[in-house]
Amino acid sequence: MNFHNIIYEKKEGFAKIRLNRPQKLNALNPDVYNELENTFIECETDPEVKTIIIMGNEKAFAAGADIDAMLKGDVVLAYQLTNQSQRVQERLADMPKPTIEAISGYALGGGLELALCCDFRIIADNAVLGVPEINLGIIPGGGGTQHLPRLIGLGRGAELIFLGEPIKADQAEKWGLVNKVVSLNELEPECEKLAKRLMTKSPIALRAAKTSMRIGMNVGLKEGLKIEQDIFCMLFGTSDQKEGMGAFLEKRKPTFTGR
Ligand code: COA
Repeated sequence: MNFHNIIYEKKEGFAKIRLNRPQKLNALNPDVYNELENTFIECETDPEVKTIIIMGNEKAFAAGADIDAMLKGDVVLAYQLTNQSQRVQERLADMPKPTIEAISGYALGGGLELALCCDFRIIADNAVLGVPEINLGIIPGGGGTQHLPRLIGLGRGAELIFLGEPIKADQAEKWGLVNKVVSLNELEPECEKLAKRLMTKSPIALRAAKTSMRIGMNVGLKEGLKIEQDIFCMLFGTSDQKEGMGAFLEKRKPTFTGR
């Protein structure tokens, strides 16, 4: 695949997607979303890819949706842009493999919204996170008003969305917006270490856990428990369940095949 705005790399069983539009702080325009969508499809279907890391550069993960692309837009364009961004982000959220977003520098607007669709957010100590759309006379349109309150609660969500003021790494960690803060030098190695730890687990059990959690977040508790039960029981039809339990009893490390 030929990309102009991202760099796609496969390494030791995981994929790295690096946003690469540094002159615009990786602002997300329709071309970038298009390329992201293609890589997400590739990651989803490539059996060699077990885990996905998404990253930017030192100064910016992404400074939001591209304001140039929106300035003269009308209602129709706004629908087109949000249809695309929400579709791409939902594809990421539904990725049947674990996803890690590595954030250094700015993760604003659509940049943060993309991060909210990943399973893990590991950030560098220079990270700045926020949804400044209110300062442009709009609101987050890539899922921010939905995902933020679900993750950090209505009060903190309102603080970020109403004020539009970004927060720094330590506050993001305190609020539970991210999993871990590391030094800038440690960011990439830390994410790779996490990807490799995830790759020792059963891919089918990981997929099952992700599906159960993601669907469960959007339904009532009773329905969620039923979904969990069905998925739990389904796993007893897999080789990985026999391998995992057998390996425990034989006091050895399991070798999972994802079957
Ligand atoms: N859309 C389009 N272009 C953007 C952008 C965005 N979201 N964010 C940054 N850029 C561009 C700038 O216009 C500038 O381009 P230029 O060199 O052609 O003028 C370039 O990226 C560098 O940005 P600059 O503002 O000069 O860097 P800075 O270090 O002074 O400030 C930010 C960094 C992130 C604070 C600032 O760029 C910013 O506030 N960006 C917009 C954030 C935002 O509102 N995002 C939500 C959009 S819905």
